[in-house]
Amino acid sequence: MQKKWWKESVVYQIYPRSFMDSNGDGIGDLKGITSKLDYLKQLGVDVIWLSPVYKSPNDDNGYDISDYQNIMDDFGTMADWDELLAGLHARGMKLMMDLVVNHSSDEHHWFVESRKSKDNPYRDYYIWRKGKDGQEPNNWTSVFSGSAWEYDKETDEYFLHLFSKKQPDLNWENENLRKEIYDMMTWWLDKGIDGFRMDVINLISKAEGLPSVPGGKRYEWGGDYFMNGPKVHDYIQEMNREVLSKYDIITVGETPGASTEDAKQYANEEGTELNMIFTFEHMDLDSGPGGKWDVKPWKLTDLKEVMTKWQKELEDKGWNSLYLNNHDQPRMVSRLGDDQEYRVISAKMLATFLHFLQGTPYIYQGEEIGMTNVQFQSIEEYNDIEIHNMYREKVIDGGEDHEKIMEAIYIKGRDNARTPMQWDATEHGGFTTGTPWLKVNPNYKEINVNNALADENSIFYFYQKLIKLRKENDIIVYGSYDLILDDDEKIYAYTRTLGEEKLIVLCNFSNEEVGFELPDSLSFTTNRKLIGNYSTNELLSPLKPYEARAYLIK
Ligand code: NOJ
Repeated sequence: MQKKWWKESVVYQIYPRSFMDSNGDGIGDLKGITSKLDYLKQLGVDVIWLSPVYKSPNDDNGYDISDYQNIMDDFGTMADWDELLAGLHARGMKLMMDLVVNHSSDEHHWFVESRKSKDNPYRDYYIWRKGKDGQEPNNWTSVFSGSAWEYDKETDEYFLHLFSKKQPDLNWENENLRKEIYDMMTWWLDKGIDGFRMDVINLISKAEGLPSVPGGKRYEWGGDYFMNGPKVHDYIQEMNREVLSKYDIITVGETPGASTEDAKQYANEEGTELNMIFTFEHMDLDSGPGGKWDVKPWKLTDLKEVMTKWQKELEDKGWNSLYLNNHDQPRMVSRLGDDQEYRVISAKMLATFLHFLQGTPYIYQGEEIGMTNVQFQSIEEYNDIEIHNMYREKVIDGGEDHEKIMEAIYIKGRDNARTPMQWDATEHGGFTTGTPWLKVNPNYKEINVNNALADENSIFYFYQKLIKLRKENDIIVYGSYDLILDDDEKIYAYTRTLGEEKLIVLCNFSNEEVGFELPDSLSFTTNRKLIGNYSTNELLSPLKPYEARAYLIK
């Protein structure tokens, strides 16, 4: 396996709207981020992934871009951005920008032109079709509820939008469009950025003819017709040839619905596509047949099955990204740990579990202080378009029970991750001197950066240590993974092996003390504890509630 700096790195994701507000308008901004660079350096992360900061009408908080080469007014200016990049580089950190090119905003000038007439030079930059029998061109639903098609009376045709109707899908079949995208990427790389996180990049190639999902229902999830579509690898390989291969950068593709087989292509070790992708399989474990909002309990053995499949299948063939939360997912400690009695302990356990796997770890802002999910009383207090569209479809139009849907939002809603970063115990958690665009989680008085920095046993310092260990032990980066105690429903245990070296990681996912016996095949005479979230040293002693320990063994 090849050694690469991006395999040895730890990435920290910033959702700019919620990170730090410098001017009191209630919205996080670039100057706010720059003011916190020493904090990020202290944590020890190598790369910052910035969720979109480009010009945007904010229908989907920046994931609807109206100008790819300018900065959103709410966030500041290009000069602020230059200062942020310089500040990162001066501290030895790198910057990964978000690239959102499956769709643009409907306010992008390409779309403004495109919708004007059927013979406009930009018409074909988007996906336009005639209606069928007075209805939409096909029966696909949008990820954000309702039809994936919007009628435009100007030219009496529909355009495709897999997300909101203000996010029309770009037509990657069009060569001129692809060239414009590559030029734009090159422009950013020449400004000195260090990589791209690519939004839903496996959705850019749609099935020939855009067929309806069979079964005759008016609206159906058409994922099979646009996830990992027929030309997606051609496009990504072309992008790699034209742009990516010319720079020493980090690339990660967001790829819902990608299997490990797909991943072996997207993230191939030869480097003809991307460095790594984000799988969704572990994030879907608590989704029932009705999808994301149909919440079901998850089992530890299911998590083991998914993680082990990705670890083993990609071994020597590709590279994993490791994450348990981001701006689209609930807070990991609320979802997989215990955000009450064992908040600190279970957050450390989850961090141990993740950071010792093979792959590049991603930390989402606030994870390093154990921020939790939030419960707002009324639907109006939520901001997210996905939440509002779903609520309208299910409760207002569909008559489903309000309480039941609020429960689902409490568990799965994206705003769980988007409440402002909690810096200190002052009003609004020190995030803003104004009124925050989304309310701060009321637990900010206890859970905040100030408290974490003042407590040597905090989650923050635990992450700092995990990151440091990664720098000191090649085995954490490059060792191969093997699951042990396969059927245990409480303990997730695995080994890593690199040459003569071996590492053992023991994580108790339950709130009970649990004993265990190691397999006979795992013999060793000495062990050295690297990290743990209790003071226990003895490798074989039972694991306390949510205890995690990692040892080098010989
Ligand atoms: C995935 C992004 O992470 C999410 O926040 C966004 O809503 C969709 N893609 C559409 O861009």
